[in-house]
Amino acid sequence: MIYLVFAHPYPSQSRVNRALLDAVRGLPGVEVCSLYDRYPDFDINVAAEQSALSRAELVIWMHPVFWYSVPGLMKQWFDKVLNYGWAYGDGGAGLRGKDCLWVATTGGKVETYAAGGIHRRPFVEFSRPVEETALFCGMNWQMPFILHGAHEIDEAGLAAGARQLRERLEAWMEAHAGAANRADGQP
Ligand SMILES: Cc1cc2nc3c(=O)[nH]c(=O)nc-3n(C[C@H](O)[C@H](O)[C@H](O)COP(=O)(O)O)c2cc1C
Repeated sequence: MIYLVFAHPYPSQSRVNRALLDAVRGLPGVEVCSLYDRYPDFDINVAAEQSALSRAELVIWMHPVFWYSVPGLMKQWFDKVLNYGWAYGDGGAGLRGKDCLWVATTGGKVETYAAGGIHRRPFVEFSRPVEETALFCGMNWQMPFILHGAHEIDEAGLAAGARQLRERLEAWMEAHAGAANRADGQP
C-alpha cells in the first residue's frame, strides 16, 4: 500500500497539486488522505494515521511549499503522528524501513532558487527539515519530486509533470512487486 498524505488548505482551488493528485490517485494500492478535508479543525486522529502508515510500504508527503516549508496542517501531522515510542525513540520503529517520497510544488521557478535569484539558495537547502524528519524515523528518503514554477506552468508542462509523477510511482510499484515476488521464491 502507498499512503499519500496530501496537505493543501484549499484543495478545490488547487491547480497544480490537484493535477498531480489526479494523476496518481487511481493507481492500484494508493490510499489518499487529504488532511485539510479530513481534519479541518486540525484534530488529527493519530491512531488512524499510524494504522494507515503501518500498512504502507511507501509514504508520500504531497503539498504546495508555503514559506519555504510545509503547510500548517502537514506540520501538525508531523508533530502529532510521528510521536515518541512509535516513530522514534524507545520502541519507535513504526516507520523504519519504509520508503518516503516528498512531492512538493513551488510558485518560484527553479532559477529563482539560486544565488542571485529571489529565493537566494538552491531549493535543496529548504528540503533538509523534511528530509531529516524522514531519516530520523528510519525511513528511506527517495529523490524528491519537486515541481517548480507552479504559478506560470502551462497546461502542457503540467500534464508532463503529472505524467512523470505517475511514471515514478509505477516504477516504484514494479520494482517493489519484483522484490515481493523474489521474496516469495517466484522468478
Ligand atoms: C502562504 C503561501 C506561502 C507560499 N510560500 C512560497 C514559498 O516559500 N516559495 C515558493 O516558491 N512559493 C510559495 N508559495 C506559492 C505556492 O507554493 C504555490 O501557489 C503552489 O505551489 C501552487 O500549487 P496549487 O496550484 O496546487 O495551489 C506560497 C503560497 C502561499 C499561499
